[in-house]
Amino acid sequence: MNVEKHTKNMYNKFGREYQRTREERHKSRVYNEFLEVPCMVKAVGNIKGKKLLDVGCGAGVHIKHYISKGAKCCGIDLSQTMIEMAKQNCPNVKFKVGSMTKLPYKNSSFDIVTASLSIDYIKDLIPILKEISRVLKKGGVFYYSNESPIASAREVYEDKNFKIVGIGKFVDKKTGKQIALGRGWDERLAEWEMVPGMLMKTYNKTFRTQLKNLRKAGFELIDFIDCKPTPAFKKYDSKAYEVFSKFPLFSIYVSQKK
Ligand SMILES: C[S@@+](CC[C@H](N)C(=O)[O-])C[C@H]1O[C@@H](n2cnc3c(N)ncnc32)[C@H](O)[C@@H]1O
Repeated sequence: MNVEKHTKNMYNKFGREYQRTREERHKSRVYNEFLEVPCMVKAVGNIKGKKLLDVGCGAGVHIKHYISKGAKCCGIDLSQTMIEMAKQNCPNVKFKVGSMTKLPYKNSSFDIVTASLSIDYIKDLIPILKEISRVLKKGGVFYYSNESPIASAREVYEDKNFKIVGIGKFVDKKTGKQIALGRGWDERLAEWEMVPGMLMKTYNKTFRTQLKNLRKAGFELIDFIDCKPTPAFKKYDSKAYEVFSKFPLFSIYVSQKK
């Protein structure tokens, strides 16, 4: 089964559980509400009166913020389940079920396109970026977030005393044993569990690939942001706050259509 079909099935089957985990803010590994969401909402800035498309919009979490900032929004997502939740969250927005590989919108329709943590499911970025460029007006801005290549390079080590999720050299002072951790900044298909049973397949990409692809698709990178945790995160989970204050879990690329 190809990755797009697999992704669609996973979000259709587990989408509600995934969203519930995020919204109820269980002690989980899903920290979007404290990291990516506030960072992306801040990055888009003043969008009053702008036409905005959110690609891979999920349950419409971001669109709800964009509407409150005065943008006129549309959303598209691969998963029917996610779109059902989005329609409940944002009743006056036009949502579509569909893939970002073929956007059902006219050329030059939007001032802004956003994609929060949705392009990691795509192997070859260039056709997607060209499709996004097509629906953007000239000078329009594309904001996308994904897992930082630094975070993706982490590797897990476990022995009877320690569990390390890290990059670098670790030395056992008692035995002198050295462990080198990290997967490198390589391109690869990562397989991981989002919530129990929800097995995801995402593509890790180097900074270089992403910058090269943006340029090839006619974009100019105008900003790059590492998502820092909000103060609310500290109250929720001070240990996770400390970890994600030290390295970026998510990054945002801001590019302009030339
Ligand atoms: C991690 S969720 C993020 C949802 C939302 N953007 C958010 O941050 O709350 C990734 C979303 O991307 C969607 N997605 C993945 N591949 C897609 C594709 N080819 N076209 C449209 N949506 C896609 C999934 O269905 C899922 O809802």
